[in-house]
Amino acid sequence: MNFFKLPYSKEAFSGHLSKESFDYHYEKHHKAYFDKMVDKLDSLGWKDLSIEDVIVKSYSNDDFLFNNAAQYWNHCFFWNSISPEKNEVSSSFKAQVEKDFGSLESFLKEFKAAASSLFGSGWAWIVFNKKADKLEILKTSNAANPLVMEGVVPICVVDVWEHAYYIDYRNDRVSYLDQVLSVLNWKFMSENYDSIKNNNGKAC
Ligand code: FE2
Repeated sequence: MNFFKLPYSKEAFSGHLSKESFDYHYEKHHKAYFDKMVDKLDSLGWKDLSIEDVIVKSYSNDDFLFNNAAQYWNHCFFWNSISPEKNEVSSSFKAQVEKDFGSLESFLKEFKAAASSLFGSGWAWIVFNKKADKLEILKTSNAANPLVMEGVVPICVVDVWEHAYYIDYRNDRVSYLDQVLSVLNWKFMSENYDSIKNNNGKAC
């Protein structure tokens, strides 16, 4: 397994997220989770498993491996959930957002409220609940993620660990969220939604 490669340069979000924030968040925090996971996978002889299988198999019996593997996957998904290029929401995903939240604006408002109110460290997700046939906002603490939850599939995620914003915004999570939500990758979200609807899901 190779460490995730950013789909853009570390300078790409200048004005929103600094290069220095990527030096720490991507190259140090994210990489540390990967390195710890790989060491443990080597010791278990699990290095040929997919990251998703590692997360599911470790969930109930190996906190160390689950936390590092899930944090690794969550960050990959987060880097894909933002884009330096403005891109368009698909008509199908837009229709689902409008059905479930009223409008794109109210969707963003609710997402920001959830992310800003999450206690401690964690992640704010947009997931698709297959049984209810609707989009939902989900908050998870620490490394927890939807891959081990029944019936929900992730569409996008925002990192609300303080390590995501201490370089650029000190302790000001709301200012960080204003910037991150302004660069959401609508193409990635739309593709994930369409993949779920076509029954083949999508990983990081
Ligand atoms: Fe992070």
